[in-house]
Amino acid sequence: MGAARVAVVTSDAGFEHDADLPLIVEALRADGLAAEAVAWDAGHTAWDRFDLAVIRSTWDYARRLGEFLAWADATAGATRLWNPAPLVHWNSDKRYLADLAGRGVPVVPTRFVEPGEPCAQADFDRPGGVVVKPAVSAGARDTARYEPGRHADAARHARMLLDQGRTVMVQPYLHRVQEGERALVFFAGAYSHAIRKGPLLTEAGVIDNARVAHPGVTAHRPTDAELRTARSALGAVPLPDVPLFARVDLALDDAGEPVLMELELIEPNLFLRDELRGLQCFAEAVAKAAAPH
Ligand SMILES: Nc1ncnc2c1ncn2[C@@H]1O[C@H](COP(=O)(O)OP(=O)(O)O)[C@@H](O)[C@H]1O
Ligand SMILES: [Mg+2]
Repeated sequence: MGAARVAVVTSDAGFEHDADLPLIVEALRADGLAAEAVAWDAGHTAWDRFDLAVIRSTWDYARRLGEFLAWADATAGATRLWNPAPLVHWNSDKRYLADLAGRGVPVVPTRFVEPGEPCAQADFDRPGGVVVKPAVSAGARDTARYEPGRHADAARHARMLLDQGRTVMVQPYLHRVQEGERALVFFAGAYSHAIRKGPLLTEAGVIDNARVAHPGVTAHRPTDAELRTARSALGAVPLPDVPLFARVDLALDDAGEPVLMELELIEPNLFLRDELRGLQCFAEAVAKAAAPH
């Protein structure tokens, strides 16, 4: 029997900017797997020649969602895909936060507004300011925060997204992201490592799609409360498969309690470059998923 063949799935942007990509391929090869990086949208890829396709840096998926979900379904029909297509579908629209909140997970308080649904200026008038963002997004695209009193600007932003047929999210601005947003990484349900990063929406009132997605990354040792909240988010996913990889992004609310900002199950940056133990855990989880069963 030959070595298990693994596609580490990326994109043009991933080939250029994903620092983890070559490390992952190298670690898998060192573990005896035949691994190669492949762009999800590379034409003519015969996905059935792989035992496993593991999604990593398909960073353009949010802008090409229909195409990407169709790719995930087709690829899941040709080989083993992780995370599986149903998880990818569910996780591609942040309305999943409402599912998790409904199951008792502490989530950033979120009002979802659908195209065609009325929304009042009052929805955008919160004492600490608001964040407006689309339900399908990554890398803080089309996202901005508004200072208290700027509700007319916030409403205009929402209307622009709604006019494009997109679901809008309105959240209170959590000021404690200035102390850092946490990202806790799990492999096959087990906690691996965590990082902290700086705030993204430093300038109020502007949509800046050229922002650095992860400013000022440093290693982070999660508190018990953070681990509890992260585990409750993973445990509340309304699908049977345990994700092969997951990143749980937490912010602190005004009371200092961790709340879920995002559960990333599609193509999260896993910050493996400075986490060699994490890289090894990931490689082991992939090898296990690629083994015949
Ligand atoms: N409610 C909020 N309060 C404070 N900062 C926020 C809030 N929502 C988003 N942000 C900032 O914007 C960034 C991107 O938002 P996020 O919800 O993580 O969407 P994306 O999928 O684009 O990463 C976050 O990492 C955080 O820095
Ligand atoms: Mg995020």
